[in-house]
Amino acid sequence: MKRVLSGIQPSGRLHIGNYYGAMRQYLQLQGEGHECYYFIANYHAMTSVQEAEALQEYTQEVARGYLAVGIDPNKSIFFRQSDVPEVCELTWILSCVTPMGLLQRCHSYKEKIDQGLAPNHGLFCYPVLQAADILIYSSHIVPVGQDQKQHLEVTRDIAIKFNNTYGEILTIPDAYILETAAVVPGVDGRKMSKSYNNTLELFESAKQTEKKIKRMVTDSTPVEEAKDPEKCAVFALLSLAASEDEARQWEQRYRQGGMGYGEAKKRLAELTNELLAPFRQRYEELGGDNDYVEDVLREGGRKARAAAQELMEKIRSATGITGTAKGRS
Ligand code: ADP
Ligand code: TRP
Repeated sequence: MKRVLSGIQPSGRLHIGNYYGAMRQYLQLQGEGHECYYFIANYHAMTSVQEAEALQEYTQEVARGYLAVGIDPNKSIFFRQSDVPEVCELTWILSCVTPMGLLQRCHSYKEKIDQGLAPNHGLFCYPVLQAADILIYSSHIVPVGQDQKQHLEVTRDIAIKFNNTYGEILTIPDAYILETAAVVPGVDGRKMSKSYNNTLELFESAKQTEKKIKRMVTDSTPVEEAKDPEKCAVFALLSLAASEDEARQWEQRYRQGGMGYGEAKKRLAELTNELLAPFRQRYEELGGDNDYVEDVLREGGRKARAAAQELMEKIRSATGITGTAKGRS
């Protein structure tokens, strides 16, 4: 049995880009009987959310969202990163075998600075904390989007460096790049992202979803003329929401002409709302019981922490933080 692990940043409202690009695959792996560890990365989110109330709210909201979509606490260990404070201890230990050059080469640091985040040490050492997250549970498989590929390479490099220094203690993980993360477009045709304000949110009302889809920008090709499905965000979203058969039919209808975008939008709204209806209902139900979400996170944290502590004992001893040195008096 493989141990799967992934972290989710609580930094805003969940949208269908997150669903198609990440959540769906987490659920699939959970269903395949792996031992799954999924956690809300609230320490990581501190690099962008620096208001206590907002961080707490997003953490609860995202946890509730993942539970609503189908993370099952009886199958997966679902927890909050900070409930295992040992990751911070391991971050320090790993920092001491991490070459500066490795972190200086990370694209995400530069990109985040360009986006306007403060160039603080937390942001710079973000990949080391991520490596600690992965290595502390001896994870084998780490499902992540394409944007995280480099962080996985950094994790592997750090683990190898640690093992060369202190002995074979850490498991070298494999990335599992989520190919469908091949960019889900937003309502304006750019990548769907909360930073672009172009999302279809998982937990907005069906009416709002319908309204946003109706307003999607399309080109001005007249109804009778053939249309290019490859250039149309409505089609891209439709082909994610529809069955393969139905998606093929829409593709033909686009290419043949005689179809208006309004018709495709209507069907997209229907299918999207159908997909999201059970998630939305469960989200509402969970909203009345904040204690449930909190209980799940605490219980998951307890289990995760037990696993982390076991490895940390070995690490403390191997590094000389605890125990007596052999051959010295
Ligand atoms: P956002 O761009 O809205 O800030 P995040 O960076 O928080 O989203 O993404 C969380 C997860 O969802 C990541 O694994 C990412 O790969 C996936 N994801 C986000 N947006 C998309 C998208 N438009 N298409 C595919 N996957 C996405
Ligand atoms: N950095 C990841 C992201 O932005 C979140 C994350 C934190 C993570 N720790 C992790 C992902 C460990 C995989 C494994 O999406």
